[in-house]
Amino acid sequence: MKEPPVIDIISPHGMCAGVHAAVAKALAEGKKSEVPLYCLHELVHNEIVIDELKALGFIFVDSVEQIPVGETVVFSAHGVSPQIRKAAAERKLKVIDTTCPFVAKVHSVAKDFTEKKLPVVILGDEKHIEVQGIVGEIESVGGKAYCGFSSAIENASLPAGSKIAVVAQTTMNAEKVAAEIEALGKKFKVKNAARVCGATDERQEAVRRYAETALPGTGVLVLGSRTSANSKRLAEVAAASGLKTFFAGSLEELENIDFSGVKRLGVTSGASTPERFFSEAIRRLRHIPEHVAIIMDGNGRWATSRGKPRGEGHKAGAKTLGDVLDWCGKKGVKYLTVYAFSTENWKRPKSEVTGLMNLFAAMLKKKERDFIKNRVRFRMIGRRGDLSKSLLRVIEALELKTQEFERQFIVAISYGGRAEIVDAVNSAISRGEPVTEESFRKYLYAGDIPDPDLVIRTSGECRTSNFLLWESAYSEYYFTDVLWPDFSEEEFDKAIASYAGRNRRRGGV
Ligand code: IPE
Ligand code: IPE
Ligand code: MG
Repeated sequence: MKEPPVIDIISPHGMCAGVHAAVAKALAEGKKSEVPLYCLHELVHNEIVIDELKALGFIFVDSVEQIPVGETVVFSAHGVSPQIRKAAAERKLKVIDTTCPFVAKVHSVAKDFTEKKLPVVILGDEKHIEVQGIVGEIESVGGKAYCGFSSAIENASLPAGSKIAVVAQTTMNAEKVAAEIEALGKKFKVKNAARVCGATDERQEAVRRYAETALPGTGVLVLGSRTSANSKRLAEVAAASGLKTFFAGSLEELENIDFSGVKRLGVTSGASTPERFFSEAIRRLRHIPEHVAIIMDGNGRWATSRGKPRGEGHKAGAKTLGDVLDWCGKKGVKYLTVYAFSTENWKRPKSEVTGLMNLFAAMLKKKERDFIKNRVRFRMIGRRGDLSKSLLRVIEALELKTQEFERQFIVAISYGGRAEIVDAVNSAISRGEPVTEESFRKYLYAGDIPDPDLVIRTSGECRTSNFLLWESAYSEYYFTDVLWPDFSEEEFDKAIASYAGRNRRRGGV
């Protein structure tokens, strides 16, 4: 097998705060709305984001005149001029404004100076939509905007020695802005109000820093759309630093890149690239399984060997589980399913069963804040009717509170693979539907999530004990003698490395 490159994450990378907020707001509004929303220009320059918005019914337009009267318009993060706001009001458009607060601040500063009769210079590209919005702001209060850089401004009709105010396009390089202001200061009395957003700069600087210490054989991969100027700029910075540079706008593109000869790969992304795409790319580059399932076995033996009651083993096992969930987050595993209590485990002494049920309730209550903080969706699979009302209440409340989150933690309680299949068959019969392998999935306890890629069993037992019988048909298995309370990150890494080296033929050759 070819050695894949070691993957480094270059930080900071990815969406700036303004883009992030704009996308989140547009997505939330799109999900709520029953009618199509009209977005003036691309919300951000990223195809994945635009496709996601289109799938939610967004229609992209270049002017408000293209939007039917009374509909809803979304203003992009770059901001719009008061003239466009007025045109939207005249068409009785409802407005969703995702203007970056940073850009909005520049608008208000430029307006204030104009009202105080100070000429305003905007450092930046006059064709850029953000600059056009600021120009409109100045003109709306009777002013004239001076766009461009010092060389152009010096030749403008502004008398030498006069007072001017300077603002800047927020994505400009801070050093360039400082140099420009210095140059302007030689001819004018400059009132400097230029505040750049450091996000683009910081991302480029991080690539330069990475390149400085890179050994031969190191490459850089930039994730972003080809329409994104700042993503392309990142690739230019990497290439200028002498590193072999790759670019991918989609997962398909990524799959087709030939990294042969590259020993280490630094990965970064542009300010409009969604983090979801970034983390999925990292997961694939590192061959991390998307779904890991674990048969957490050996608690009892762990406790007995220490002369402790079995319950102590379960408590120690619960602590391990908390750690494993964190490691999954860190490594990019999207789904973790754990076997906590089987349909066969009801055979155990009543005191052990009660102890386990109490432990589940206590752990879930204790972990609630972490789930929310780490954005982990909790789900239970198994026969809910077997559980006490109080435990079920805790479970269902937590499921409800975390249902929006993408990463998932699935706990199997009173779970049996055969029970699940029987329950699914009965649901299908009650609907009177014949099933296919694919349609059968929707009757499973969590049929919407992908099958486990890797199933780990601790404590040396090499059997499934009735776990995920349907779902694990093509899973890779990893068995270790380590008892569950002793399961370490090193052992987890071993399991993942073993998985990464396997050839999953799935019946092919
Ligand atoms: C796994 O540990 C946890 C549960 C089944 C709840 P065990 O309790 O099966 O531990 P051993 O196999 O007896 O050591
Ligand atoms: C499987 O472990 C079930 C869980 C880990 C919850 P068991 O300890 O119950 O399995 P067997 O009895 O050894 O097969
Ligand atoms: Mg056991």
